Amino acid sequence: MKKLVILISLFAFIGLSNLRADEGMWIPSLIQELNEKEMQDLGMMLTAEDIYSVNNSSLKDAIVKIPGCTGEIVSDQGLILTNHHCGYGRIQAHSTLENDYLTDGFWAMKKSEELPNPGMYARILISIEDVTDKIYNVLNDGMTEVERDKAIKAKIKELTKAATEGTHYDAFVRPFYYGNKYYLFVNETFKDVRLVGAPPSNIGKFGGDTDNWMWPRHTGDFSVFRIYANKDNKPAEYSEDNVPYKPKNHLKISLKGVDEGDFTMVFGYPGRTQEYLPSYGVEINTEVLNPIKIKLRAERLNIFKREVEKDKKVRIQYASKTAGVANGWKKWQGETRGIRRFDAIGKKRAFEKEFVAWANADETRKELYGDLIANYEKATNDIKPLQIAYTYMREAGYGIEIVRFASSFYPLIDADKPLAADKRQKTIKSLNGTVERFFKNYYQPIDEEVFEALLKRYNEDVPVEYLPAFFSELNGKYKGDYQKYADRIFKKSIFTSKEKIEKILSNPKANFKAFEKDPVMKMVASLKQLEKDKIKPYRGKLTTDIQKYQRTFMKAQMEMQPEIRWYPDANSTIRLTYGQVKAFEPMDAVSYKHYTTLEGILEKENPDIYDYVVEEKLKELYRNKDFGQYADKNGQIVVCFIAANHTSGGNSGSPILNKHGHLVGINFDRNWEGTMSDLSYDPNYCRNISVDARYVLFIIDKFAGAGHLVEEMTIIK
Ligand code: ARG
Ligand code: ASP
Repeated sequence: MKKLVILISLFAFIGLSNLRADEGMWIPSLIQELNEKEMQDLGMMLTAEDIYSVNNSSLKDAIVKIPGCTGEIVSDQGLILTNHHCGYGRIQAHSTLENDYLTDGFWAMKKSEELPNPGMYARILISIEDVTDKIYNVLNDGMTEVERDKAIKAKIKELTKAATEGTHYDAFVRPFYYGNKYYLFVNETFKDVRLVGAPPSNIGKFGGDTDNWMWPRHTGDFSVFRIYANKDNKPAEYSEDNVPYKPKNHLKISLKGVDEGDFTMVFGYPGRTQEYLPSYGVEINTEVLNPIKIKLRAERLNIFKREVEKDKKVRIQYASKTAGVANGWKKWQGETRGIRRFDAIGKKRAFEKEFVAWANADETRKELYGDLIANYEKATNDIKPLQIAYTYMREAGYGIEIVRFASSFYPLIDADKPLAADKRQKTIKSLNGTVERFFKNYYQPIDEEVFEALLKRYNEDVPVEYLPAFFSELNGKYKGDYQKYADRIFKKSIFTSKEKIEKILSNPKANFKAFEKDPVMKMVASLKQLEKDKIKPYRGKLTTDIQKYQRTFMKAQMEMQPEIRWYPDANSTIRLTYGQVKAFEPMDAVSYKHYTTLEGILEKENPDIYDYVVEEKLKELYRNKDFGQYADKNGQIVVCFIAANHTSGGNSGSPILNKHGHLVGINFDRNWEGTMSDLSYDPNYCRNISVDARYVLFIIDKFAGAGHLVEEMTIIK
């Protein structure tokens, strides 16, 4: 109980003062208390109530969570905007050699042409409630971490049940400040979300992976979807009878653009940041794990790159995979670079020294926090080999497509967790979909090469005790001949054959012995065994310890510096972040403007490089200055702009709003010098990148001739 009192009084301090404008991802229900005044000082003309209100319609009603990203409603018929890279997998799923929407773009000219996307959802927030006290009520200081987690889980179950009983809503509770606070989110989740439009890749992904994570940028990174509901305007599974959703609110779109210094805010779903990790936590990420992941992904990318050049079909098959693998590969490089460049680890060490001195200056504090940093350091060192083993398992073991594919069948044969009959049926049903999707995009020669390359790395880099058992066969019987091993495995496995797998799945009497005996499944089993015996038990315990240290460290830092307004790390819940449109100087002697233009696209044009091809139609519009209402005051088409808004992965597709709350762009990326921002945000160097709303509308209207969509929107001229 005493702990609770300290905790509550501690949070009462928040909001008293001091902050760094531009940094922080704020909880919308708290901005009245914490941010409203500052936002207004920066130029915002809205109130907190305009942004988040439970009883009246507010901006939050127009923000949707979609898988992996954010989207926003921009018409009274449920039209949503998000990024091209967020719709990429769906666009690809609808693409074939004959109808290559990924390359050529796709535009539904009427609603009946809009394409359904199984598995896609759009979730809208209904309300947020602080449930910290309710959770802490069931906890006591005598509990172990495991008991604590169990009690919290049970309470969360009760709370979410109570919050949704008798409604069609869903709910979840998430920890904030590493479990020092808890919030309950109630949502309405729509399941029929259809693809309405996407520009061709040489607009939507212009600059490709070369320009990714970089400024200056010229990517038209947007796509258009629509939410459908049943006749009562409620969520429903896909049905032809569904109708366009009528939202409580939709965003207005401004054609006024932005100038340097303008107030902007981004409203969306950042996934995960770790701003409060102790230096040792940062170090293991950027100095140990990132280099491993980068190295392993480079192996895959080199093979992908070589193979897709040879065959157009393979290029479509591997487009989405390549983008995903390359995205992490590049980000981690920028992240490690940024952490080193700004000596983030050194700065954290210095702070930790101060912290220890502060803790030791008082008897009570000494008892609570005196050893915290040392304990954290020790646990981080202990967990390091396990983290490395785990990373190889994920990136090298499961980096092989066929291994990952086979692993999705593992539940059918897992002796540790036998499936009940109904669960088994469900699993088989969903596996049918998995099979369909896997083979649509599977090209075995690539995977065989990847298999050899990744296993070689795995074998050479990882100590024997952390190698899965199949390496003893590879190193023994096969004398380390990766090719021979691959040949045999791929020849013998049934997981390379759609027909064989489907035949087994469709046999109601199947006992799945064939899966069990399969050589790829045996690899999966040995990865699972390794995880079970050598990784999970120790890693689990250490993770729990680290979680406790992290939670305590968070609380202690807040106690040490009550004058700071602490924002919670991102955890895939809805956040608001704000700042200003701002240019920056990335390095010595270089200065970047805050926006790019259509002219820059022609400057970058290179017909010989796939990512820099410019469509004839776009060039024609440029030559004729056929810009409609979408040019800026200088008669140019602005393509992208940057601002100092603190965003993260998951914020892609989020609306970037001006001082009136009007949409001026769609957020899609960050700059190279700022990719370390998930671990250490630096307002001088971190920028979010958005595609200008006018470019989006210009492409929809002038380029694609889908002006009927613009007519649906509310445009502010
Ligand atoms: N870097 C952005 C994000 O993290 C965009 C990624 C998609 N683009 C790409 N070229 N892979 O999601
Ligand atoms: N591109 C990221 C996303 O997909 C956004 C970012 O990391 O800044 O969410």
